[in-house]
Amino acid sequence: SANKKLLVLPGDGIGPEVMGEVRRVIDWMGRRRAASFDIEEGLVGGAAIEATGTPCPDSTVEAAMRADAVLFGSVGGPRWDKLPFEQRPELGILRLRKDLGLFANLRPAVVLDPLVDASSLKADVVRGLDIMIVRESTGGIYFGEPRGVHTGPDGKRTGIDTEVYTEDEIARVARVAFDLARKRRNKVTSTEKANVMQSGRLWRAVVSEVHQAEFPDVELEHMYADNAAMQLCSRPKQFDVILASNLFGDVLSDLAAALTGSLGMLPSATLGAVQPSGKRHALYEPIHGSAPDIAGRGVANPSAQMLSFAMLLRWSFGMEEDARMIEAAVEKVLAGGLRTADIMQPGLARVGTAVMGEAILRELEKLAA
Ligand code: NAD
Ligand code: IPM
Ligand code: MN
Repeated sequence: SANKKLLVLPGDGIGPEVMGEVRRVIDWMGRRRAASFDIEEGLVGGAAIEATGTPCPDSTVEAAMRADAVLFGSVGGPRWDKLPFEQRPELGILRLRKDLGLFANLRPAVVLDPLVDASSLKADVVRGLDIMIVRESTGGIYFGEPRGVHTGPDGKRTGIDTEVYTEDEIARVARVAFDLARKRRNKVTSTEKANVMQSGRLWRAVVSEVHQAEFPDVELEHMYADNAAMQLCSRPKQFDVILASNLFGDVLSDLAAALTGSLGMLPSATLGAVQPSGKRHALYEPIHGSAPDIAGRGVANPSAQMLSFAMLLRWSFGMEEDARMIEAAVEKVLAGGLRTADIMQPGLARVGTAVMGEAILRELEKLAA
């Protein structure tokens, strides 16, 4: 059919809990917005290990290839922590990114007005904060060879990971960052450690070349990644788009999440190249994990998953109005004083996942009326 094909991968821990609330919104959109999706649900992570023995079965990768977009929950948990490295649930998301060529992970960090006081920083420092982190997501130290733990002749072990970046890998993710900047406040801060890393030296050179040749109108600043972490905590509003390697982007985006109040608020989009057919593989995932410490209790914040679905509507289907409606609904619920435990503030009403999801639906209903 001509319906939009969605692959839903709830995964582990709080993944299925927060995904459940998104499923209700998808159903609602079918009824009230005449937006119909063909939804397939698949296995990934620990859930896939239990059912099939592997964290990312071929059938899941094939379904992801066929889909117009993938909505991903989260993977991992203590139950699978003792498995050999190549069998861990986390491999589920890593393989999907790699096999689908999803090299650009967009991680917005936006401080919503109702959450200004939930931030770890002073209200004045974060009010109105709107950063986009563009994290490279199919290269670098996550995938570079050689890697492994080797035991030497003396019986001592050595752990090895290798940071590898080709100039093409750097250039294509840099282009995504510059493109985004043009639609925002026209500034890119590129992070690396060109002072100590060869791959960082190349990163800085290639980003400068792409800038000069294709985006001279965008303001470009280079910043060492350690300094960027410090600046994010002290003067975060200087940033517009932050460009980072796989590892630095992972760390900086969790840090940015803390500025916005909670990991439970932040969505992301992981995009591939636009193919000649016009198709672009894309996966949408909250930046948080499976939160084993709160899983199974119905208290997780569904906002990050919900906002990931909004990003999906915007980036994969051009459904800007619907995306904004969902974002507005989340913000309205927060403004109304409902809070999951992670963003709880004195005097407000603490609710669980389902009540939060219900409230988002009610706001959507009002916005659509
Ligand atoms: P985490 O993001 O799962 O949790 C960190 C902290 O944030 C916890 O205290 C958790 O309760 C809280 N938190 C996270 N999401 C929340 C939400 N929606 N609502 C309320 N609180 C929330 O990170 P972790 O504890 O370091 O990792 C747990 C597992 O998840 C590990 O196996 C890890 O590898 C995996 N992980 C998976 C992904 C992913 O699937 N994309 C991302 C990060 C971590
Ligand atoms: C993330 C996670 C993943 C990563 C893990 C689970 C592989 O931390 O999406 O931020 O490191 O990319
Ligand atoms: Mn992470």
